[in-house]
Amino acid sequence: MVEVTLKDGVNWVGVVDWTLRDFHGYITYRGATYNSYLILDEKTALVDTVKGTFSGELAEKISELTSLEKIDYIIINHVEMDHSSGLPAIAKLAKNAKIIASTRGKDALIKHYGPEFERVETVKTGDEIKLGKRTLRFIEAPMIHWPDSMFTYLVEDKILMPNDAFGQHLATSGRFDDEVDEHTLMEEAATYYANILMPLAPLIARKIQEIQQMGIPIDMIAPSHGIIWRKNPDKIIKAYLDWTSGAANKNKVTVVFDTMWGSTEKMARAIVDGAASQSVEVKLLKLRGSSNSEVMTEILDSKAVIVGSPTIHNGIFPTVGGFLTDATGLKPKGKLWGFFGSFGWGGGAVKGMVETAKNAGFEVYPQSVEAKYIPDAGELKKCFEFGQQIAQKIKV
Ligand code: FEO
Repeated sequence: MVEVTLKDGVNWVGVVDWTLRDFHGYITYRGATYNSYLILDEKTALVDTVKGTFSGELAEKISELTSLEKIDYIIINHVEMDHSSGLPAIAKLAKNAKIIASTRGKDALIKHYGPEFERVETVKTGDEIKLGKRTLRFIEAPMIHWPDSMFTYLVEDKILMPNDAFGQHLATSGRFDDEVDEHTLMEEAATYYANILMPLAPLIARKIQEIQQMGIPIDMIAPSHGIIWRKNPDKIIKAYLDWTSGAANKNKVTVVFDTMWGSTEKMARAIVDGAASQSVEVKLLKLRGSSNSEVMTEILDSKAVIVGSPTIHNGIFPTVGGFLTDATGLKPKGKLWGFFGSFGWGGGAVKGMVETAKNAGFEVYPQSVEAKYIPDAGELKKCFEFGQQIAQKIKV
């Protein structure tokens, strides 16, 4: 094993899941990692485990650095199974380790893995464990990303281990931000935020503010997915502040559609032309061809989203309905939503989409565009003007 050292005595012992392409429905074109950290001091601590299928690999990595029986503490920052399903196997091998979690983490561990986890010891914000030269300090972070979540801070090394926060689903041979392509890294960080953390934006903004007010220095951010922010941890903190506040929103229109016989697609292309005529950035995505995860990433920094659907069975086309279920759950903030669609004898898709968006509390552009069977020149002109008007409105 090539040793990966964050600072002397602080080692990455995680695994790279190169071939993962679907993380509970989030499409991971670039794989994933489950990061686990081993801290060697007078006492030894393991921060987070990995997905259960990789527990053998984690055990091997640990045993190249120390005996598993010498682990004194296993810190469980978060119980979601991508991080904790390796725990039962590791806990059997690390038989002398105390298991540490938040109060809600303990409850969740018992519910996931059984009564043997009644022995978990709980911590709250400000609690510390002395390892020797090093101190672990805990910061509860409920709902980032589950109620049980907490961050572990290595006081003397100034390393924040915030589990899901600041992560990315990115399998690479590099482990640090200075070892990977910066554009790819930020794209995956944005995709992760848009698809996992976006509905929690107010909580995340408050937690970052709380940590800043604590005045704790941060040399590195070591999340439990993807690369470790060693060169520039401030970059990802600033990105999160921009995403949570809406400051990242730019003059950009994302047009999303699906189509049955090409009519809605013709309308989408006319809308794109209209929006582009106003010198805003425009993206066009067809749902059978783009994952919801990709679409949500495009929406993250857009000021407007225009969605098109043909009518089927008097309602919304299934892929568009599924996308709206995802989008309304992820609650992107500060977007203007517009809707369009085609129909044969009776409409329904546009009405359904507008209702869905309004029920979610989205700001909806008051007009929409519809075309019967095949859009004619007049209807395509209306589509062009619709794109134009929405683009003009976001530029104000
Ligand atoms: Fe990476 Fe919420 O688990």
